[in-house]
Amino acid sequence: MELKADNGEGIDSWKEVTLIYSAALRQIETKMEILNDEFQHVHQYNPIEHIKARIKTPESIVKKLKRNGYESTIDNMVKYINDIAGIRIICSFTSDIYRIADMISEQRDIKVIAVKDYITFPKASGYKSYHMIVTVPVYLSDRTVDTKVEIQIRTVAMDFWASLEHKIHYKFEGDAPEHIKSELVECAKMVSDLDARMLSLNEEILAISREREKDEDM
Ligand code: GTP
Ligand code: MG
Repeated sequence: MELKADNGEGIDSWKEVTLIYSAALRQIETKMEILNDEFQHVHQYNPIEHIKARIKTPESIVKKLKRNGYESTIDNMVKYINDIAGIRIICSFTSDIYRIADMISEQRDIKVIAVKDYITFPKASGYKSYHMIVTVPVYLSDRTVDTKVEIQIRTVAMDFWASLEHKIHYKFEGDAPEHIKSELVECAKMVSDLDARMLSLNEEILAISREREKDEDM
């Protein structure tokens, strides 16, 4: 069990667990802000548009445990629920996604537990995003707890699609009419095209500004 204390005592209260997860979330959030600031300083460009962080509600934790056939215990939630602490990093371009993922993986105190690349391999729904489950150490007064955080990295366009699709999925309780599902897949394709065009447009703009700088230096 991940959240076990060094003296062998398990975590015995919801409050303590929440405290640890929200500390882990804050750490990742700060790390991302630092990377973004440094990137701005070095490359005059912000790869991160914005960040959303959330702690899963107790109701939704209990629901997920039940769905997976586990009893609702603190031990089980720590062991089996990977997205109690979740952070979503929204960036401008597809290329930023892998850049951010690499920067996260390279941090010495972050351990990558799992990666799901739904950018290269989109879901049948059309969903695209890059997911990582990592642990980050949370330093408490008497012990250190490696705590799991789910990181989702996606572009603004992918995020727009995912939020609408999520609402539709929720509204129809996962059983949306076929024509709506296929329309969503169509929209996902448009999102991918848009992302690809915006990326190449941006590359062209960058190349032009580099040329201009060269000319000015001469
Ligand atoms: P969950 O039990 O839903 O957490 O999924 P999982 O453990 O199989 O992991 P997965 O990486 O597939 O999904 C994790 C999270 O990604 C979900 O909780 C959603 O936030 C998001 N997600 C995954 N698939 C979809 C999708 O088809 N549509 C949308 N809108 N979001 C998705
Ligand atoms: Mg989830």
